[in-house]
Amino acid sequence: MKSFIFHNTTKIIFGKNQISEITNNIPKDSKVLVTYGGGSIKNNGVYDQVKTALKDFDWDEFSGIEPNPQYDTLVKAVKKVKEEGFNYLLAVGGGSVIDGTKFISAASLFEGENVWDICEKFAPVTKAVSIGCVLTIPATGSESNCGSVVSKGDDKLFFSSPLVRPQFAVLDPATTISLPERQTANGVIDAFVHTMEQYCTYQTNSKVQDRYAEALLMTLIEEGPKALKNPNDLETRANIMWAASQALNELIAVGVPQDWATHMIGHEITGLYGVDHARTLSIVYPAVMSVCRKEKEGKILQYAQRVFNITSGSSDDIIDMAITKTKEFFKAMGVPVSLSEVNLGEKDIEAILKNLSSHNRLPLGEHGKIDLETAREILKTAL
Ligand code: NZQ
Ligand code: ZN
Repeated sequence: MKSFIFHNTTKIIFGKNQISEITNNIPKDSKVLVTYGGGSIKNNGVYDQVKTALKDFDWDEFSGIEPNPQYDTLVKAVKKVKEEGFNYLLAVGGGSVIDGTKFISAASLFEGENVWDICEKFAPVTKAVSIGCVLTIPATGSESNCGSVVSKGDDKLFFSSPLVRPQFAVLDPATTISLPERQTANGVIDAFVHTMEQYCTYQTNSKVQDRYAEALLMTLIEEGPKALKNPNDLETRANIMWAASQALNELIAVGVPQDWATHMIGHEITGLYGVDHARTLSIVYPAVMSVCRKEKEGKILQYAQRVFNITSGSSDDIIDMAITKTKEFFKAMGVPVSLSEVNLGEKDIEAILKNLSSHNRLPLGEHGKIDLETAREILKTAL
């Protein structure tokens, strides 16, 4: 296990009817800008709960942050923050609203000339407006991590800063009951692949991280299909919400190698073709397991045994069975496992590779050995 410092400062406020806790977690003299997406929070009662909690605050709102939040929209919010002097941002929504709000937070106090440099050139974030959030999709972990993914044209780029980590996150599983089936499934798959990207690398004898990751994987495999079958089951929703949050709150990442090849390839697919983030992962991840089976052998065998109870067969057979089981889980969640299912084919591979190169993403993987050729092989395997 490598040395590490773990310091996740987000206060998690978990459970039914906890949105009212916002009142006690934003400093009283704040001028608050509530940010949200296309209006789901108005249909499921979350907006009204937020409004009640903010009744004694000076606040306004900014809506219309899209899935895969767009730079052009976010800079309008930056203008509003600067002109009207907001000093607290309350993001209410899924990963896109929270990520978008992180960008607004950093860009509003950015001293450089071009705020896009935050993503494109990793320009350092030295100041940021404080953020709190109310999460409505268990998926990204954005509610308590430092990362944000923002889109501008074909570019879907990532930045990270501890200054944009939310100060608090309300996780009320009841808010997720209104999720369409597609978004419930997307969230479970995103959390599952986050866990795999940090777990399925190579052996480092990091027993706590491994067993914690396995607990998250098994919970998502058990609870994901249940949420599709019984969407109103609050206990299932609660288990998924807590698992997804911990899948990317840095806890299972400490001291261990990380992969992220699937995410980097997936972001290019979303940037070019608009495929939902999680669906790019369900397509690419089984292909990464297959192409990188030698490098990941020890961990895939452990995953096969501990998560799926596969104990007999040659190493190659066990790895094949583990990939099949993973795909079966993805299919049970109704997400695609091949590029052809989202109408992409061989003709699209070069464009994806071109963007991977131009965004300086290569080489990828826990060993930094996935070059252009291996990325091509992965995409061909995913056809
Ligand atoms: O916009 P509204 O009307 O709110 O509708 C949203 C949106 O259309 C809807 N929705 C959200 N909560 C709902 C709901 N509908 C009904 N009931 C509710 N309770 O769901 C749609 C999708 O929302 P979005 O926020 O885009 O989903 P998700 O949470 O999956 O976020 C995906 C984004 O996060 C990024 C992805 O790349 C993508 O841009 N990621 C962020 C990460 C991070 N910050 O650490 C890591 C991830 O790997 C990921 O890359
Ligand atoms: Zn993800």
